[in-house]
Amino acid sequence: MTAEAVRPTPEPAPEPAPAGGRGFPAGFRWGAATAAYQVEGAVDADGRGPSIWDTFSALPGKVAGGDTGAVAADHYARYRDDVALMGRLGLTDYRFSVAWPRVVPDGSGVVNAKGLDFYSRLVDALLDAGIAPVATLYHWDLPQRLEDAGGWGARDTAYRFADYAAAVARKLGDRVGTWTTLNEPWCTAFLGYGSGVHAPGRTDGATALRAAHHLNLAHGLAMGAIAPHVGGAERGVTLNVHAVRPGSSDPADVDAARRVDAVGNRVFLGPLLAGEYPADLLEDTAAVTDWSFVRDGDLDAARSSPVTMLGVNYYNPVAVRAFDPTSGRAPSLADGHGPRAASPWPGCEGVEFVPLPGPYTAMGWPVDESGLYDVLARVARDAPGLPVMVTENGAAFDDEVSADRRVHDPLRVDYLRRHLEAVHRAIADGVDVRGYFVWSLLDNFEWAYGYRKRFGIVHVDYATQRRTPKDSAYFYRRVIEANALPA
Ligand code: NOJ
Repeated sequence: MTAEAVRPTPEPAPEPAPAGGRGFPAGFRWGAATAAYQVEGAVDADGRGPSIWDTFSALPGKVAGGDTGAVAADHYARYRDDVALMGRLGLTDYRFSVAWPRVVPDGSGVVNAKGLDFYSRLVDALLDAGIAPVATLYHWDLPQRLEDAGGWGARDTAYRFADYAAAVARKLGDRVGTWTTLNEPWCTAFLGYGSGVHAPGRTDGATALRAAHHLNLAHGLAMGAIAPHVGGAERGVTLNVHAVRPGSSDPADVDAARRVDAVGNRVFLGPLLAGEYPADLLEDTAAVTDWSFVRDGDLDAARSSPVTMLGVNYYNPVAVRAFDPTSGRAPSLADGHGPRAASPWPGCEGVEFVPLPGPYTAMGWPVDESGLYDVLARVARDAPGLPVMVTENGAAFDDEVSADRRVHDPLRVDYLRRHLEAVHRAIADGVDVRGYFVWSLLDNFEWAYGYRKRFGIVHVDYATQRRTPKDSAYFYRRVIEANALPA
């Protein structure tokens, strides 16, 4: 079967839902998402090499509870059952990531056929169940060997990523109809190399900006590298577009929001959509780096193999204001990215985050669906005509299996309902949203927070690996069945 047979592109823009109706456009894609290191476990199976998250999570104090992804939700062994579960939930699509260290264990060089085979079997199982696979090529598990050689701070990593991407596309390109290169490169660059709360745990603003550039380069090179193998498949990148608001209309606060938008969003959107870095970003960060790592032609690759859709991940908005260093207090760091020794916001000195009103999820993130609407509307303005998919949205709550052996998670149902309404409103207002993926299918390894934060619509008992769909899973199934907001 060719990729064209799976999902021919370009697709015509779907008919908008009738005005005032509760329906979503025909063919709207309803998915759930996971990522390799967060669910697979089996870190030593079939020739997989070590990744930066194996290394980082083994360091004392880096992950809550000393948790690691060594076992996770054991999806590597249980993928068939998990696909059957997806079928029972009615998902039309499943977004997963391919682990680079399974496919190219050393990061460069020999391709590990056994590692690739796992994803080939997964894709076949999905297709057999009538579920469209959506493959992400990088969801944060860099092969450790490459980190030892400089990681995303090293230009060579971008070229190695393109080689690896081509190897995956050669194997799966006949069956996967949607590809995204990178998941949330902001987190890779700024949490991995800026604040250090993510692997590899480095804390240097200049390296974080260099990493961001190498991620932009990697995206462009990978787009070109997969093109010959994926037919008419959809291609894009997934960004966590921050919904940044000024804390007030004071020009200083508005400028604080502009700065955070520059290093939070436009550092990726600029190269992707305009082929250049925004001038204000270069100015704001001039004391941190001279950007001499950008070479002529680096941003051409992304433009010569343009994306056919943009993935947007959204959880909550942030508000910022100018911080007065003479105030005698420390700036508020309420950006949702956890406690840290160093800031993940180079160029944003003199900016602080304003705590927002609740309710909050178990992550302490405010529940506010208006940010999702704003982000979708913004992307439609910045990239007119480019289809969008909400590639992640969801919430962690302290779920438990009740005496009736069900998991009652009314707060997650409420979160999903509100955010689906925001998506519906964006579509009604003309934003070309093609699909929605809940994060996550399963409870999983929530990075520095370990297993204590549960994002799944399916509960995982880590002692037995028993899966229990939560009430939110049944809620989601009803939405999918109706292709409409619930009454
Ligand atoms: C975004 C990331 O892509 C995913 O890996 C993570 O678990 C969720 N946010 C929740 O924090």
